Amino acid sequence: MLEVENLDVYYGQSHILRNVHLDIPQGSMVCLIGRNGVGKTTLLKSIIGLLSAKKGRIALTGKDLTQATPDKRSKSGIAYVPQGREIFSGLSVYENMLLGLEAAPQKKVSKKKAEIEARMETIFELFPILKTMAKRRGGDLSGGQQQQLAIGRALMSEPKLLLLDEPTEGIQPSIVQEIEETLSRINREQGLTILFVEQNLEFVRRLAQQFHVMEKGRLVAGGPIQELQQDLVARYLTV
Ligand SMILES: Nc1ncnc2c1ncn2[C@@H]1O[C@H](COP(=O)(O)OP(=O)(O)O)[C@@H](O)[C@H]1O
Ligand SMILES: [Mg+2]
Repeated sequence: MLEVENLDVYYGQSHILRNVHLDIPQGSMVCLIGRNGVGKTTLLKSIIGLLSAKKGRIALTGKDLTQATPDKRSKSGIAYVPQGREIFSGLSVYENMLLGLEAAPQKKVSKKKAEIEARMETIFELFPILKTMAKRRGGDLSGGQQQQLAIGRALMSEPKLLLLDEPTEGIQPSIVQEIEETLSRINREQGLTILFVEQNLEFVRRLAQQFHVMEKGRLVAGGPIQELQQDLVARYLTV
C-alpha cells in the first residue's frame, strides 16, 4: 500500500537516503531498525513530505505522492507520530486531540461536533487515561501518557497508514506494554497499516511482522521478523 522506490534525499549538500526501496503491504505491521544517525527519521519525514525527494517515487495505494505537500499526504491517509512526541504542552489533552483532525480529509471525516466526540470516544477506549485527563494540560502528562496522546491524536484523522518514530523512547515499561497492546489491537481489529522505527528489540520482536534494517542511508537487510537473527543484530545494531 505504501511504495517507496529509488528514493534519494539530501539535507543541503549531505546525501542522506540512498536508493531506498520499501514496500509496505496493506494491513501489515513493519519496523525499521538501525543505529543512530543512519537515516530512519529522515525516511519517515520523507514519506510524510517534510523532506522532499531528490530522486525516486513515493506512492500510497497506487497514488503518486512524490511531489505532494505534507498536508495533501496527511489528507491522503498518512498519519505521523514524531520522535519526541511533540505534544502542545499548553493545550489540553482534548485540544491536542482535536488538532489531529486538521490532517483529516474533509469529505471522509466529518467535522460535526457529535461525530468528533464519537470519534474521540473510540480513541478513549483504546487509551482510557486520555479520557480521565482530557481537561489537563498536555505538559502535565508523563512521557508515556504524552506518547499515548500523540498516537491518539494521529488516529483522529482515521489514517490508512500510521508512522511512528521510536514510540517507546524514554517511557516506563508498564506504558510501553499498553502501547504495544494498543498498536497490535488497531492493526488486528481495524486493519491499520503501521510502520514504526524502534530501538527496543524486545518490543520489535513482539509487535512487528516484518523488519527492515537501515545502514548509512540504505536498506541493507529485511524479511519476516523471525529472520531477525543475532548475526544481523550484531552486524547492524550493536554499537
Ligand atoms: N536537520 C538536519 N540537518 C542536517 N543534517 C541532518 C538533520 N537531521 C538529521 N541530519 C543528519 O542526517 C543523518 C540521518 O539522521 P536521522 O534520519 O535523524 O537518523 P536516525 O533517525 O536513524 O537516528 C544523520 O547523519 C544526521 O546528522
Ligand atoms: Mg531518529
